[in-house]
Parts: sequence; C-alpha cells; structure tokens
Amino acid sequence: TWTPSNIIDDQVALIREQVGDKQVLCALSGGVDSAVAAALVHKAIGDQLTCVFVDHGLLRAGEAEQVEKDYVASTGVRLIVVDAEEQFLGFLKDVTDPEQKRKIIGREFIRTFESEARKLDAERHIEFLVQGTLYPDVVESGGGTGTANIKSHHNVGGLPDDLQFSLIEPLRTLFKDEVRAIGKELGLPDEIVQRHPFPGPGLAIRIIGAIDRERLDILRAADLIAREELAASGLDREVWQFPVVLLADVRSVGVQGDGRTYGHPIVLRPVSSEDAMTADWSRLPYDLIAKISNRITNEVREINRVVLDVTSKPPGTIEWE
Ligand code: XMP
Repeated sequence: TWTPSNIIDDQVALIREQVGDKQVLCALSGGVDSAVAAALVHKAIGDQLTCVFVDHGLLRAGEAEQVEKDYVASTGVRLIVVDAEEQFLGFLKDVTDPEQKRKIIGREFIRTFESEARKLDAERHIEFLVQGTLYPDVVESGGGTGTANIKSHHNVGGLPDDLQFSLIEPLRTLFKDEVRAIGKELGLPDEIVQRHPFPGPGLAIRIIGAIDRERLDILRAADLIAREELAASGLDREVWQFPVVLLADVRSVGVQGDGRTYGHPIVLRPVSSEDAMTADWSRLPYDLIAKISNRITNEVREINRVVLDVTSKPPGTIEWE
C-alpha cells in the first residue's frame, strides 16, 4: 500500500544503491519539488549531498530565509547560498520585455550555478545531480531520462559538456499531492510543503515594466499582505496560485489621508486550476478582497489602487507576463 513512509523507505534504498559513495549536487529553488527531492536524497546519503541555492533577489518576502534557515534546520542539508541579487538586478536594469527578462534570468541562473558546480566538483568530484521532476513533467517531456531534459530555467539543463552529471529523480513517479505528503513526513515546514507554484523568474514577471529594488520591495510588501490574508481566511488550498502584479509604469490619482496621491495600481490575480493549463479566476469572498485591498492601500504607501483580475485562462494567462 502507498504510504508516505513506504515511498520514503523505497526511495532511500534506491538512492543509496544508485549513489554508492559518490558525491551529489542539487539546486534548490525554494519550491516544493526540489525541497522534497533534496530532503529525500539527504535522508539516504547525508553529507554526500550538497545543495546550492541561487538567491536572484526576485523571491517573495521571507522565501530566501525559509530556505536558508527553516529548511536547513529541518533537514540538516549542507547548503551553499549564492547571493546574486546585484548581479541579476544589474543585468535586468531597464529591461521591460517579458521574454527578454526570462532569457536574462535563465542565462544568469545557469552561469551562477555552473560556477558553483565547478568549484564543488574541483573540491569533491560530483557524479550526480538531483532534480525534482514529477510524474506530470515526465509525461509532458515524452518520458525521456538520462541527462538534463528540462522544462524551465530553474532546473539546470544547459550545463556545458565537461560538466555533465547523471540524474537522480526520486519524485519521477509521483504527483504533487504525494510529494507534499512525503515532504510533510520528512518534517519539512508547512510554509515550504504547502507552497503554491511560483515561476522560476519570480517577481520579475510580476512587475509590468522595468525591475529595480524599490519596485520589488513595493511588490513584496503587497504580495505578503495578500498571502497572509489568504492564509488567515483558510482558503489557501482552494486557490492554485495568487499572483500579485505591480503595474509599475501606470499611475493613477488617489486620495490618502489629507492629500492627493499619484501612485501605482496593484492587481490581484487569484486563480483556481488543476494543472495551470487552464484556469479560472477564484471567486474569493468580497470581505477577503476588501481586507486585502484596505491593508495594501494603508500599509504600502506607493499603492493607491487595488484591482481584481476576473479573466479566465484562456484567454488570459495566469501570469501577466
Ligand atoms: P501562464 O502565465 O502561462 O503560467 O498561464 C502557467 C504556469 O507556469 C508558471 N510560469 C512559469 N514557470 N518559468 C517558470 O518556471 C516561467 O518563465 C514561467 N512563466 C509562467 C506560472 O506561474 C503558472 O503556474
């Protein structure tokens, strides 16, 4: 019978057999899949695993700390954190085109990960790379295995020929809810295990316009309020994703306190979905929307208007870029 602890025992045995006494590398993204995959591999082989977390400065409030502190505390993995915010924001300066943003982030991610992998490989020869591939990813990509065969940038396809590893994919037969159950059984914090999907390019594709630190901080403040209130309402699980989008190049007139303001609008984009291929806008209770709107306009000075996206997918995508 399928229980999380059976799956863990089976995978631990398989991983030990596959790895022997060799060294293993894993890129953590902050998401559920890589977090659970790495925790499973760590349970099997302990310090033969090294994790690398590239902090590109485009994560939501508290997410980098969750990886650096809570994840490490609950698993004991050896983690190398690369603070690459300045590098990423430098290359993204003045870039407004969504695909251009993705290209730059993907390129810089690979470059940064490659350089860390090289250093580590020189120190302790690395044979294997862990990837959090799930069953739906396997089906989507035609079932192939072997070396990197990858869906998006925060997985690490595109490494050069002299730096190729064999893959360990302990979640290949599993669906998302099973992965969450295993993560919970392994003792990972709820904030990581129950996290909504989040795009690799992060908040960069939730700022419509150019990206800088100030705009990121505004979006992070608004996004945190939306997430807090959704969680407090107990409706977290009904919602597939809840993008909060900053229209950074748009201003509108408002009145806050005694004065007129000329601030930015923020868009709430809660959606329900099974697989992100199609989606519908979530019919969140008006009281909840009102609470989020009031808090954002009260607490985030630069935001004077909150709008709700009521478009399904298709025709709208989930993200705005
Ligand atoms: P859209 O916006 O196309 O999004 O409806 C579908 C799903 O994919 C996520 N998404 C991305 N994930 N890199 C990622 O890793 C990306 O560039 C990217 N763009 C969209 C999105 O959050 C949703 O879950």
